[in-house]
Amino acid sequence: MKMLIATHNPHKLEELRRILLPLGIDAVTDRDLGLTLTEADETGRTFAENAFIKAELACRESGLPAVADDSGLCIDALHGEPGVFSARYAPEGQRKKTVLQKLAAVDDEHRQAHFTSAVCCVFPNGDAVTAEGHCFGRIGQECRGTGGFGYDPIFVTETGKTFAELTPEEKDRISHRGRALRAFADRLAQYLKGMKT
Ligand code: IMP
Repeated sequence: MKMLIATHNPHKLEELRRILLPLGIDAVTDRDLGLTLTEADETGRTFAENAFIKAELACRESGLPAVADDSGLCIDALHGEPGVFSARYAPEGQRKKTVLQKLAAVDDEHRQAHFTSAVCCVFPNGDAVTAEGHCFGRIGQECRGTGGFGYDPIFVTETGKTFAELTPEEKDRISHRGRALRAFADRLAQYLKGMKT
């Protein structure tokens, strides 16, 4: 099945493609189709609302089932910040530093955080299939590792390594996006089965 991936983030695109491919989903981008989708206004108060906003717009503009992810990092000691503002929390290149500075006085016991990923596929008939995944960990004292993207070098997983120190496959196994997409794949399979009967 052909599905439009509504993201311009190359790292997310790679992760989404890698996880959707074994499910028989041919993930294409607007550029693959010679289209340029309008950038959605992420005005939702939750990751799920924003994922729906992005997927619905992409479906409407392309005529294809469109899948979008909205994700971010929630830090307990910062009352859930940066949350839905993860991509806009500070200027590019300064987000990790900003988080580390805000947590400078917070000891290791109180640096719990989690990533959330909400995935939503909107179909041309208006139906939506959604799923959410979480990954719990803590914020490290400094950046570690060179893999991944975004906040990966400061997010210490239950393995003791940061996301940026894991291989892509190791990250997929425990990440919020990997979990959300596997749940999404199950729900999508159920949905498609229901459409055929
Ligand atoms: P959006 O979902 O495109 O609005 O942005 C999500 C933002 O959250 C990204 O720009 C990253 O800063 C952060 N983020 C989401 N998922 C990850 C991840 O797997 N690793 C590191 N940062 C992430």
